[in-house]
Amino acid sequence: TRRITVRDIAAAKQRGEKWPMLTAYDAMTASVFDEAGIPVLLVGDSMGNCHLGYDSTVPVTMDEITMLSAAVVRGTRRALIVGDLPFGSYQEGPTQALRNATRLVKEAGVGAVKLEGGERSAHQIELLVSSGIPVMAHIGLTPQSVNAFGGYPVQGRGEEAAQQLLRDAKAVQDAGAFAVVLELVPAELAAEVTTMLHVPTVGIGAGPECDAQVLVWTDMAGMTGGRLPRFVKQYARLREVLGDAARSFADEVVGGAYPAPEHSFH
Ligand code: KIV
Ligand code: NA
Repeated sequence: TRRITVRDIAAAKQRGEKWPMLTAYDAMTASVFDEAGIPVLLVGDSMGNCHLGYDSTVPVTMDEITMLSAAVVRGTRRALIVGDLPFGSYQEGPTQALRNATRLVKEAGVGAVKLEGGERSAHQIELLVSSGIPVMAHIGLTPQSVNAFGGYPVQGRGEEAAQQLLRDAKAVQDAGAFAVVLELVPAELAAEVTTMLHVPTVGIGAGPECDAQVLVWTDMAGMTGGRLPRFVKQYARLREVLGDAARSFADEVVGGAYPAPEHSFH
């Protein structure tokens, strides 16, 4: 078996095939998704919220992304692994972006990187791509800018915002991105972007017309606690399952039912 590459991703759009993407932050979970046939795994900076206990993606560092990306690469054989460039690791300019993307490729072994921003990040994308590093772009709601957005509002509403989103999509494609995440964009506008671009769109809260769909794995599997965004569908109730297992273990230890004779050595 060989890994999925960005060329396979391009071919899927030619054939009109939709594909799924999930986040992963550790080797074992990644191996489950790899065995389930998920072709692309993102080591997202959503690890800030979902894995590291921060309350946004903003504090996530290159060291954290590099360590967890390496774990996800080690846990998988077939999936294309995309490492997210965290806040502050590419905003200074193309040279900084190349230094940090190179680190993810060399130290973690990712097959591509992702960064946020449309027109504003085009120069970074151009240098990475011309240096041989495939780039997934990310436009619409870009969570690293939460302090500027003042929250996580739907993007591209109104004529002016829609025109800007179309310019951003065109800019990242022209800069050489192999795919574009569209986050929290009205379905009609996401459909328009998907038709306009020859590279695939990867929707999250962007309706059914995108070429691919991505979800944060802990949301998708019902592991995340508390309120979830409207675009999330939970395909399992892992939080309940795991909590029940922990409570059963605790009860049996306290009650003396575990370990039983078959778990003991004599
Ligand atoms: O970090 C992340 O999980 C992401 C996806 C939601 C696209 O950027
Ligand atoms: Na991200």
